[in-house]
Amino acid sequence: MNKFGQLADKKPLIDLHQVVKTYESSSQPFTALQDINLQIREGEFVAVVGKSGSGKTTLMNLLAGIDRPTVGGITVAGTQLHSLSESQLAEWRGRTIGLVFQFFQLLPTLTVVENVMLPMDFARIVPATERQSKALDLLDRVGIRDKANKLPTTLSGGEQQRAAIARALANDPPILLADEPTGNLDSVTGEAVMKLFTDLNAEGRTILMVTHELDIMRSIRRQVVLMDGRIADEVQMQADHLKSEEVRS
Ligand SMILES: Nc1ncnc2c1ncn2[C@@H]1O[C@H](COP(=O)(O)OP(=O)(O)O)[C@@H](O)[C@H]1O
Ligand SMILES: [Mg+2]
Repeated sequence: MNKFGQLADKKPLIDLHQVVKTYESSSQPFTALQDINLQIREGEFVAVVGKSGSGKTTLMNLLAGIDRPTVGGITVAGTQLHSLSESQLAEWRGRTIGLVFQFFQLLPTLTVVENVMLPMDFARIVPATERQSKALDLLDRVGIRDKANKLPTTLSGGEQQRAAIARALANDPPILLADEPTGNLDSVTGEAVMKLFTDLNAEGRTILMVTHELDIMRSIRRQVVLMDGRIADEVQMQADHLKSEEVRS
């Protein structure tokens, strides 16, 4: 049991039931996800893999409540997402989901520590007087406290991704969704960032990570393979096959 344990045990933390996503925006409708049934338990670390265009980002957007399914139901931490209005979804996301992207998406005009404080300012869970020290603690956690007052563009790619991870942790969410977080990093930096995620998972955070990279993929126990918008395969590796022991040492 960990500090997120109250959400846990019998029911899956994340449950997608017969989810379909059809984009209507283009000239003709395009179904990016079909018949997705997926359950993820609290504390799992799941790799979402598949070719470009297979629907990985669409899946992440649905889980984050950034977009809504055309058909089907998504329940996350006991909340049925379809029951929430747009503003309720935004509030729910702020509390429940930490997002990490391939291209970091830090605001260039804010310092690193201000970027980390931003989700706290939106969610208003952390009292205003404590936000800066909490943000500094998070930067310490990801190893870049000394960069707190710099602008993001003065940081290396790996440092920017660490800042983005600190920002994702701002409101202490139980779930992290990362869309190709090492895709724009060299392999050594990528492994270091991956170790951060492995540690965050070991603390009990549930993580879904989209990745193309074989090394990263192999260090994650459960793999969900998307192909043309469907779950084509699921792989659950035994612990002794995991590369994460190597990553950790
Ligand atoms: N807003 C959109 N409107 C129309 N089609 C989209 C939209 N977003 C994604 N798609 C299409 O849906 C498919 C899946 O996209 P995406 O989820 O981004 O795949 P992946 O992340 O695996 O590369 C692609 O064919 C893409 O072109
Ligand atoms: Mg994508």
